[in-house]
Amino acid sequence: MRMDGVSKEYLEGEPFAALNDINLEIRGGELVSITGPSGSGKSTMLHLLGCLDKPTKGEIYLEGKPVSGMTDDELAEARRNRIGFVFQAFNLAPTLDVFGNVELPLVIKEANVEERRRTVDRLLSAVGLTDKAHKMPSQLSGGQKQRVAIARALANSPAILLADEPTGNLDSKSGEEAVSLIIGLCKKHGMTAVFVTHDAKIAARTERQIRILDGKIESDSKRRMGK
Ligand SMILES: Nc1ncnc2c1ncn2[C@@H]1O[C@H](COP(=O)(O)OP(=O)(O)O)[C@@H](O)[C@H]1O
Ligand SMILES: [Mg+2]
Repeated sequence: MRMDGVSKEYLEGEPFAALNDINLEIRGGELVSITGPSGSGKSTMLHLLGCLDKPTKGEIYLEGKPVSGMTDDELAEARRNRIGFVFQAFNLAPTLDVFGNVELPLVIKEANVEERRRTVDRLLSAVGLTDKAHKMPSQLSGGQKQRVAIARALANSPAILLADEPTGNLDSKSGEEAVSLIIGLCKKHGMTAVFVTHDAKIAARTERQIRILDGKIESDSKRRMGK
């Protein structure tokens, strides 16, 4: 993923640059955290990386392809199959059980019943929720809901996992577990992961840490991990 001179202005009211001339390259398999104060542009950056929004200036490249040149169908395909999202508020479908939530992306993609069942079983096992497959989201703790959301984000085997404050609604222990789960799964499958967080402890667990301030990259540091 690459951002080349990317700016994002929100045009309602006073024009306001939420991101200002960002140059950034994230390589395949990198684990990256984005930190910064509230309003600094973290979510904007993640939404642009995830093709949920478009820059007002500059170009974004997804797996080498300029996003501005993609058709709506190609963008939808990228969002569906190349990128997984995890949100602070979990965003589970309240009327579907755990199995149904994780299955949803596979239903949308029209995978057959057998493939859906196999994939969902494997993912629920990976996030430790096999025994909760037929619970409704309302019957789960926050940490369990986030694990469902993580499993759902991985259903289409995305190359890139984007997470916006994934621990923002969790107590520190569940947050820690959710992050360990994401990091472990990303390493195992060679996925790229970008976390937005304002928790320094979470940021410290990624090998690359980007800090943004007022829509600009204030620092970008890589370090060798302990293991
Ligand atoms: N849809 C929008 N319309 C107008 N301004 C927005 C919109 N989304 C975000 N902003 C503004 O852009 C700035 C960056 O927002 P955001 O990327 O959400 O920051 P963060 O995630 O770091 O808290 C903030 O000042 C916010 O108010
Ligand atoms: Mg935000």
